[in-house]
Amino acid sequence: MLTLAASVCLRATTPARNDAAAFPDIVDHFKYGSIGAEASSGLPYWIWKVLPEVCEDALPTRPGSGYERIGFLDDGAGHGRPIGTSFRPGDGDLVGLNCATCHVGTLRETVDAPRRVIVGMPANQMDLQGYGRFLTACAQSPAFETGRLIDSIRRANPEFGFFQRLAYRLFVVRAARNGILERAKENAWFDDRPPFGPGRVDTFNPYKVLLRLPLDTTVGTVDLPSIWNQRPRQGLWLHWDGNNDRVEERNKSAAIGAGATPASLDLPSMRRIEHWLLDFPAPAYPEARLDRSRAAAGRSVYASACASCHDIGAAGIGQVTPIEEIGTDRGRLDSFTPALATAMNTIGKGRPWQFARFRKTGGYANMPLDGLWLRAPYLHNGSVPDLRALLFPEERPTTFIRAYDVYDWDRVGFVSQGAAAEREGVRFDTTQRGNANTGHTYGVTLPSSDKLALLEYLKTL
Ligand code: HEC
Ligand code: HEC
Repeated sequence: MLTLAASVCLRATTPARNDAAAFPDIVDHFKYGSIGAEASSGLPYWIWKVLPEVCEDALPTRPGSGYERIGFLDDGAGHGRPIGTSFRPGDGDLVGLNCATCHVGTLRETVDAPRRVIVGMPANQMDLQGYGRFLTACAQSPAFETGRLIDSIRRANPEFGFFQRLAYRLFVVRAARNGILERAKENAWFDDRPPFGPGRVDTFNPYKVLLRLPLDTTVGTVDLPSIWNQRPRQGLWLHWDGNNDRVEERNKSAAIGAGATPASLDLPSMRRIEHWLLDFPAPAYPEARLDRSRAAAGRSVYASACASCHDIGAAGIGQVTPIEEIGTDRGRLDSFTPALATAMNTIGKGRPWQFARFRKTGGYANMPLDGLWLRAPYLHNGSVPDLRALLFPEERPTTFIRAYDVYDWDRVGFVSQGAAAEREGVRFDTTQRGNANTGHTYGVTLPSSDKLALLEYLKTL
């Protein structure tokens, strides 16, 4: 999925030891456990921990402090690191990323309401490219210097011992810096493309670097999806372009995207997560905010206009609608080239799980719409802020704010305009390459009353 800009290669100095903490509770494990991405792409914990202080100027100007400003979430669990990070003890004490980096998001019912952390929803707030850019800027700055780092670390951890300091002085700091800069070089192609912005990532272009395929100019940036209810998705052609029909391959390719290698993948951990996701349900829309009778009217609109492609069990589910028909931005589709499909199926060569089911398609997948209310912004590139704008295309804005988590109960999506959103969020521009908000015009010519009933029904999915 993504060889993180963030990643640091410490292979030379830190032999992988497969002893990362396994959390008894599966949700804790998902949020804080390891998928095996540290040894190949982690940073030494104490360096990682003090960077936001040492390089505060390099953090994005978003709300919060430290890594929150990049979109990492802290639910106060007291692990000394936010949701979406893992820790593998050993010579390097490495911090890596995990599934929750990209698949845990937040919602506020109103501006003053507490922030709800929702597991399995897209991480709308997470700016992965911002994370990589922060680390690179920091590694390049004079502040990234052994003495300063160690001073900072000792303030945070008075027990940071003599031998640790010695190791940091001799090689850990240098290896970490080189690793970050190496990764920045691999990700230089980011700069030729529009920014991901929060909640989005280029899924498959990083694999071209990993698999040593020639780079092209495609933009493959997509909106992060939800990952609940995987059981009914077994056997369906999914990923946004429907390029793979195996849940297990989609999960493993995700972990490799997060920095794991075929050798470092923590398979027992992955199996636990895989098993749990099969029946992990999507949170329901608040009952008190639903108009049940209107939703019932919308159900029949849905049945005639939408169900044939989106309902589990329907003929079209998990099939691909050709790009000429769907008419959405074709960047992500074109970024997954035939050569890449072939190369993806060489990943894991010689292992029992070697990939075999990647293929090139000609459009985007008809996916289940479960937990739809939490999946805003909509479409594969996240170019339409709310469901109302999807159904009333004249209301699809040219630019809007993403990564603001106050919910808009009328429009069904997150508030995407106005001063408060602008203060906290990040502007998205649909005129940039890969960001077009065209297409998917199903239902748009229905009478307005039908569309409003449909909108109510969509809340119940
Ligand atoms: C760096 C961000 C990132 C991380 C980390 C990540 N994912 Fe994803 N995940 C994505 C993106 C983006 C997609 C959509 C890919 C596409 O089609 O372009 C996706 C898609 C998926 C899908 C398929 C969804 C569908 O129905 O099409 C599953 C399942 C999934 N991820 C599970 C996981 C698991 C399990 C992990 C941890 C092992 C994980 N992901 C880690 C970003 C991430
Ligand atoms: C012919 C098949 C087809 C029909 C009919 C159809 N859709 Fe879709 N739908 C798709 C495809 C394909 C996508 C993915 C397009 C993309 O992201 O580029 C999609 C995406 C969506 C999404 C975005 C999901 C997300 O997570 O961002 C929503 C919402 C949606 N459809 C709702 C509807 C509604 C409501 C109707 C009926 C009015 C409908 N669709 C009719 C094929 C269809």
